Amino acid sequence: MTKDRKARFGIIGSAGLIGNYHADILTKGEGPYELTAVCDINESRVRNQADKFGIFGTTQVSELVGRDDVDAVIVATAHPLHAECVIAVVEAGKDVMTEKPLASTPADARGLVKAINRKRRIGGVHYQARTNPVVRKAREMIDSGELGKILSIRVTGSYYKSDFYYSLGGWRGMWKDEGGGVLINQAPHDIDTLCYLAAGSAPAELIGRWTNLYHETSQTEDFASAAGVFPNGVQFTLNVSVATHGDASRVEIFGTAGALTLQGGKFTRYVRFEQDLVDFARTYPGPDPYAKPGFHDQPLPEVGESDSSLIHKMFAEAVLTRKKSKMLVSAAEGLWSQELINAVYLSGYLGKKVKLPVSAARYDKMLADLIAGARQVNRPQRESEEGRIAT
Ligand SMILES: NC(=O)c1ccc[n+]([C@@H]2O[C@H](COP(=O)([O-])OP(=O)(O)OC[C@H]3O[C@@H](n4cnc5c(N)ncnc54)[C@H](O)[C@@H]3O)[C@@H](O)[C@H]2O)c1
Repeated sequence: MTKDRKARFGIIGSAGLIGNYHADILTKGEGPYELTAVCDINESRVRNQADKFGIFGTTQVSELVGRDDVDAVIVATAHPLHAECVIAVVEAGKDVMTEKPLASTPADARGLVKAINRKRRIGGVHYQARTNPVVRKAREMIDSGELGKILSIRVTGSYYKSDFYYSLGGWRGMWKDEGGGVLINQAPHDIDTLCYLAAGSAPAELIGRWTNLYHETSQTEDFASAAGVFPNGVQFTLNVSVATHGDASRVEIFGTAGALTLQGGKFTRYVRFEQDLVDFARTYPGPDPYAKPGFHDQPLPEVGESDSSLIHKMFAEAVLTRKKSKMLVSAAEGLWSQELINAVYLSGYLGKKVKLPVSAARYDKMLADLIAGARQVNRPQRESEEGRIAT
């Protein structure tokens, strides 16, 4: 890599909530990158953005991806549009990082990963929770065997949203425009963390349920749950909702030597057992039928500061050095959570356990039926103060 060279980035969907977040990071100059072009179908907003940064702005994806001063592109449109945008970027010979989730459907997600590989481009997904040193430390502790054999991981996420939230976002909470609700929008970071910590893969099978408990301005689920198993035998349960409230999302890891809780992006509890649980189960001679190994709270593991632009720095390094391994979360890794999410939808719809990966054709049929049968929702046209809202 030339030491002073910078990766030149463009953004598609630049004028939306997360598009603006990426634009802010890329123009702060804290990494080996610069923002050279923005694209959004909202003409006035993209024009303002281009003027603000003194860079090229367009409403046409083809114009952005065709530019010589764009090496790589961040895709920040709503998820059903990710696949077509990613494919346009790699077909133009550029590298790409898409927003989470990879896409809405298995066909789109698998298709975009194939396109990245076919065009031999660097491709990633913006799962920035992976930059959290707590998540990385938890993975290190699992890999080192400190927690013993991992038996199960429990994920609980409450991301409460009002009806007003859904009435603002044209695509949010609509089967056709979003492809789902809490599972595909608010929960993916926690689901990616689950897949990363449990196995570094999608699960092998699961049974899922989802429903809309009370949101009248959303067609899609505001509550979802699942239980399943990863190929390495790690069991998991998932309970995520925009209807419940009161607790930051929590990932609890249960091993045979200890248990570790991550909550709200921090460690909140670490216990170690006096004897390995399997060992104890097999060797305890009696007579107490309720005997169990003692356990002790441990000091919470220490971690460094989090760096919110780490994922952008690593993407830029990958682009400049042509080393895919520098990408923090590759598009292929983005498939882990995508396959899980899509399997929960299909399992809940069919009312039975499913093996992963699920059939893309069966999934498309389910989604077409959900779109056709979706209830009308009352969504008065309103804008938040900023004209944008957070996921
Ligand atoms: N990583 C995170 O923490 C995080 C946070 C928020 C959103 N997201 C993800 O980012 C994506 C966008 O979410 P958002 O909340 O920013 O949505 P948003 O609606 O605020 O922004 C989407 C933008 O895309 C533009 N757009 C739509 N179609 C386009 C096209 N064909 N070409 C160019 N621009 C187009 C829209 O005009 C809008 O400005 C979603 O997939 C969401 O899940 C991720």
